Amino acid sequence: MNDLILGDCLDYLRRLPDKSVSLLLTDPPYGIGISKCGRIGTSHRYTRKAWDVIPEREYFDEMLRVSRHQVIWGGNYFTHMLPASRCWLVWYKKDGLPRNTFADCELAWTSLNRNAYVFNCRWAGFVKDSREERVAHPTQKALEVIKWCVDQFSNPGDTVLDPFLGSGTTAVAAKLLNRRYIGIERDPEYFDIAQQRVAAA
Ligand SMILES: C[S@@+](CC[C@H](N)C(=O)[O-])C[C@H]1O[C@@H](n2cnc3c(N)ncnc32)[C@H](O)[C@@H]1O
Repeated sequence: MNDLILGDCLDYLRRLPDKSVSLLLTDPPYGIGISKCGRIGTSHRYTRKAWDVIPEREYFDEMLRVSRHQVIWGGNYFTHMLPASRCWLVWYKKDGLPRNTFADCELAWTSLNRNAYVFNCRWAGFVKDSREERVAHPTQKALEVIKWCVDQFSNPGDTVLDPFLGSGTTAVAAKLLNRRYIGIERDPEYFDIAQQRVAAA
């Protein structure tokens, strides 16, 4: 089943059976105030929104309940709601680039019993190793990074679930790699962007 759903993901998660999707791959709000900013590079302005609030524990409990494996970007903001893991993913964004006020890397918590990984993909203003267009979502993830997660942690035909879909990067990656996808996004503007990106993929 491929599905893009507009709404609060908790309503949907509560209805899913235990371990019914292969991979949860998501990027919940980190609660760092990013949605209050107003600009992406020079190409996009975006509307001030109030979505950047860390979800409550029930969201994490449900995400872990309904999926067999999990990759949760921003895991370092949610350690109080996740078990210990030996397999963290590091997305290093600044290879060879000067330091600035943004973080050098992003971290994903995973449920996997494997070695930790570092993935290099520059993603800083005009310098991007991942070539897709920046859309009007302030925390759009690099498609190359998310494709790498899909490729590493699921198989063709598996279902990949992203309950915090944003601009649709996870669903695009899943579609390009012949996985099924379920994506949920609460904001209608971001949901439209996600639908357009998935249709074009
Ligand atoms: C960090 S962003 C995800 C960005 C995404 N990885 C991308 O590449 O565009 C988190 C998204 O979760 C959405 N969101 C927040 N709470 C939600 C909820 N309860 N249910 C569904 N979506 C939610 C926000 O509107 C926001 O677009």
